[in-house]
Amino acid sequence: MKVDFYRHELTPDDAAAIAEVLATPFLTTGAVAKQVEEQLAAYFDLPHAILVNSWTNGALALLLAMDLEPGDEVVIPAMTFIATANVVELAGGTPVFVDCDPGTLLITPESIRPHVSERTRAVMPVHMYGQMADVTGIREMLDAHPRRAGHIALIEDCAHCFEGQREGYRPGRHSDAAVFSFYATKNITCGEGGAIVMSDEGWFRRALETRLHGMSAIAVDRFAGGRYNHWDMNRLGTKANLPDLLAALLPRQIQTIDARLERRQAVANRYRDALADGPLRLVTQVQACKSAEHIFPIGIPRGQRDAAIAMLNEAGIAVTVNYRPVPSMRYYSTKYPGADAACPESALWGEETLTLPFYPALPRDQQDYVIDTIRTRIYPLIEAA
Ligand SMILES: Cc1ncc(COP(=O)(O)O)c(C=O)c1O
Repeated sequence: MKVDFYRHELTPDDAAAIAEVLATPFLTTGAVAKQVEEQLAAYFDLPHAILVNSWTNGALALLLAMDLEPGDEVVIPAMTFIATANVVELAGGTPVFVDCDPGTLLITPESIRPHVSERTRAVMPVHMYGQMADVTGIREMLDAHPRRAGHIALIEDCAHCFEGQREGYRPGRHSDAAVFSFYATKNITCGEGGAIVMSDEGWFRRALETRLHGMSAIAVDRFAGGRYNHWDMNRLGTKANLPDLLAALLPRQIQTIDARLERRQAVANRYRDALADGPLRLVTQVQACKSAEHIFPIGIPRGQRDAAIAMLNEAGIAVTVNYRPVPSMRYYSTKYPGADAACPESALWGEETLTLPFYPALPRDQQDYVIDTIRTRIYPLIEAA
């Protein structure tokens, strides 16, 4: 049997939404994107939303709008995708890596605290695999920190968590900004895309500019009122705007995201129940969290991860690794020697983890096959090691 890692749920109805945009003269960021921004702001009950063409470019635009100076630090997890660190480097800041909790794989107020210095401008926790980090706890810790020099921005990396909640609050509620990804495998997708939600008016205005070269007006506004309007460039920006052609794929998915979570939960619970009694490491579920159940990683102990990947691949089961820690990557280990060794839990999970096929419509017989293959082939592999 062949088991795909992921399948999106876009249909020919979604093609109709793109056809509507094609029937207008305007393909780039315009009326459709503005409508989706209003929909996002309403979903998160926040004043501002900005659509972007990826998490990466959105987070970069946000950090450019902070005017980081050389030596300014942004605290991030070691256990995350490289983009979380790359945007800090690209914006001229210095990433400071924090180790993860071995159970939840999240960073916590306690693990962040010793890394806060007079140079800390922002902290960017990642809501790993769909469970939210303790945003209110981190905010309280930062506000009371004796070494802080002014307000430390709290930016949520929500690439894994659109519809998740913690203690009943959603992303963006208790932070300065939350950044989402609409990449091909995300819970909401338009192939490539993303969004920022935020409350602060001034930062929002600056991020609107840094999203588009630093220009004072987006294309649709430059031609507002049926005539050409001059624009200026106030600050250095990037090209992070999402075209209407792709934005058109988002409204229906945002409308249905909470209902669709139940189907993700059903598959995730099935895996969890079936694999709970074996030798695998499973991610600890945080009581206070309603997980967005983005992906389903497992830990293969005793140095058997790569052998397990080969065995699963041979059985026709597609898997990935999320993630090998960022400071272990050549660029970062060369630039920040010692950072990897200072994050041993991230290093261990990076050696043990693999991610199973997981999507809402994963057929039940394929779920059974994955579970059965793990029980009959991977368990003995671990036990024999
Ligand atoms: C935790 C995390 N942050 C950031 C990103 C980058 O998202 P994008 O591909 O939309 O730039 C990803 C993508 O997978 C991610 O998993």
